[in-house]
Amino acid sequence: MSNKGKKFETEAIRTQMERSQNLEHSSPIYMTSSFVFEDAEDMRASFAEEKQRNIYSRYSNPNSNELIDRVCQMEGAESGFAYASGMSAVFSTLAALLDTGDHVISSKSIFGSTHTLFTQFFPKWNIESSYFDANDLSQIEGLIKPNTKILYAETPTNPGVDVLDLEVLSKIAKKYDLIFIIDNCFATPYLQQPIKFGADLVIHSGTKLMDGQGRVLAGITVGSGELMDKVYRFSRITGPALSPFNAWVLSRSLETLAVRVDRHCENALKLATYLENHDKIEWVKYPFLKSHPKYEVAKKQMKAGGCVVAFEVKGGLEAGREFFDSIQLLSLSANLGDARSIVTHPASTTHSKLTSEERNAVGISDGMVRVSVGLEHIDDIIADIEQALGKSFC
Ligand SMILES: Cc1ncc(COP(=O)(O)O)c(C=O)c1O
Repeated sequence: MSNKGKKFETEAIRTQMERSQNLEHSSPIYMTSSFVFEDAEDMRASFAEEKQRNIYSRYSNPNSNELIDRVCQMEGAESGFAYASGMSAVFSTLAALLDTGDHVISSKSIFGSTHTLFTQFFPKWNIESSYFDANDLSQIEGLIKPNTKILYAETPTNPGVDVLDLEVLSKIAKKYDLIFIIDNCFATPYLQQPIKFGADLVIHSGTKLMDGQGRVLAGITVGSGELMDKVYRFSRITGPALSPFNAWVLSRSLETLAVRVDRHCENALKLATYLENHDKIEWVKYPFLKSHPKYEVAKKQMKAGGCVVAFEVKGGLEAGREFFDSIQLLSLSANLGDARSIVTHPASTTHSKLTSEERNAVGISDGMVRVSVGLEHIDDIIADIEQALGKSFC
């Protein structure tokens, strides 16, 4: 029975590989590097791609296929490829589509490693990039050149939780015939489906909310069949494929994505509201707070605000440091989207490779704190932050 057209949660749970002769309920793990052929003709036809089948796990594997099918269903995509990390998804997708001499236009507010890719590695292959301000999409058209091929953005952004209007970006991409790519890692397909708003390809770091328990590194790109064919051909040769075990873990995680993300968002909104009323907080940003500059856009394109809240403790860097040192329950870690709440200092961790000027330009102040709000009871999350703020001077 096809699951197409069923509700999100149902598709997430019921999109599954075919049962083996053992009639298992949960999908088995295919820990195999290669697959066997019936005979010489089967082998020839498989390599000639006259048959769609698994040949070698660098190309495809039943566990990554299951994961890809699930994410395609959730995102409304035609096909995809599963990667060993979010960054291998970002790199392989862009590298597969870009040629020497091409130009990329990207939002300035992007994950630190993606920024390093644009500024330090792509120039080696004569691929140039220009940045627009995530809060001023009117800059984009002025940056377009004859060699511009890709329009790239994240929304909400890491770590500043800026929100970019997907419809506006899509209109510009269509007008200038650009490939429109969205890193949807902060929202997950449960909260936001960029393809519905006109994106051609959607990238995820599966390491975050998709896994949700901080166990595996993973990435995935999904989108139009035509573009994914190019991405697939590059990826199967260059070897960034996800391991079958991690694909299996992630597929199981997707079965609980909706319930987990609902609770993450509920907790995050409560924490953001609490912080907004706290006299030791300079500012707080969360997409579903009315005070967020793009609250209306967030409401239009997202189901809820996500798990990340950004804020600054009054008193700048020193007060921020004291706050971090006083935290007792929450984890000091660089990851996000885990069941355990995490506090991060982006300026000294995830975005430390950017210069201070570059960080300021994308709204990452030295004292900025990023909280990935987890699934502990919200009273305990707030109590830990409350006691840490109590100790911080200012
Ligand atoms: C928005 C975004 N994209 C991509 C990545 C890279 O993912 P990974 O760490 O799985 O390589 C991250 C990691 O934090 C991220 O936040």
